[in-house]
Amino acid sequence: MKKYFVVFCLIFFFLPSMAIAAGHGQPRSVKQGILLVAFGSSFPQAQVSFENIDARVKKQFPDIPVHWAYTSHVIRKKLASQGKHLDSVATALAKMMDQGFTRVAVQSLHTIRGEEFDDLVHTANAFEGMPDGIEKIVIGSPLLSSPQDMEAVTRAIIQNIPAKRKKGEALVLMGHGTPHPSNAFYTALMFSLQRKDPGIFIGTVEGAPGIEDITAMLREKNIKKVYLMPFMSVAGDHARNDLAGEDPDSWKSILEHQGVHCEVVLKGTAEYDNMIDIWVNHLKDAMAQFK
Ligand code: CO
Repeated sequence: MKKYFVVFCLIFFFLPSMAIAAGHGQPRSVKQGILLVAFGSSFPQAQVSFENIDARVKKQFPDIPVHWAYTSHVIRKKLASQGKHLDSVATALAKMMDQGFTRVAVQSLHTIRGEEFDDLVHTANAFEGMPDGIEKIVIGSPLLSSPQDMEAVTRAIIQNIPAKRKKGEALVLMGHGTPHPSNAFYTALMFSLQRKDPGIFIGTVEGAPGIEDITAMLREKNIKKVYLMPFMSVAGDHARNDLAGEDPDSWKSILEHQGVHCEVVLKGTAEYDNMIDIWVNHLKDAMAQFK
């Protein structure tokens, strides 16, 4: 008789309360996800950078699903025409919201806190706290965001200089550059690098210092041989054309025209583990905000 009473209680009291618990207004179970955000590249050779980052992030956070978004509309469109579909930040977050993620760590794979990063912050913030949506979104900083990053990036660049570089030979890095005030990070980094190694220079394609500033500095120091490297996460369009291209206005052509011998190292910063570690550390800091 007592047994029937227990079953009766289960059916009439306990089970209905379980159904209510899964319904409206109850806390949902935590589901964490990572969204990696890059400008993107349509160069197949540049994919190695993204694969490296993806692998290292998955190794660091083996239980957390990793999603990707590209911020460049032009690149997404180009890839789509080749049958490769990459999400924008908004689409990626909307999908994660539908998939029931309650906490998302968005990691910027940008180099500096420029316009692209500002846009990312705005979009991510807009997705936080929607009804039944993502409860908390945290954002990991770009590569070069703090005085500690300045030291870490300086160290990593110096470690990544080709071993065959001889005394008197310089390293010239090409950053992207921007009209955004954060462009100042490039000159700050050059200052930090030159305190350790006066033969390292950084110019930018779209900001200051430009290649004319760099050629003037090389001339002043009578440098006749340089290693050219992109200071961008991928060795994509800028690296292959503006830095190393055969056109007369590429950095290589301009320097060689002035009698400076150039050797190009076509590797994006995200092809070096010591650089990826800086982004991964930022992601760790962001994830720590969930605790
Ligand atoms: Co560009």
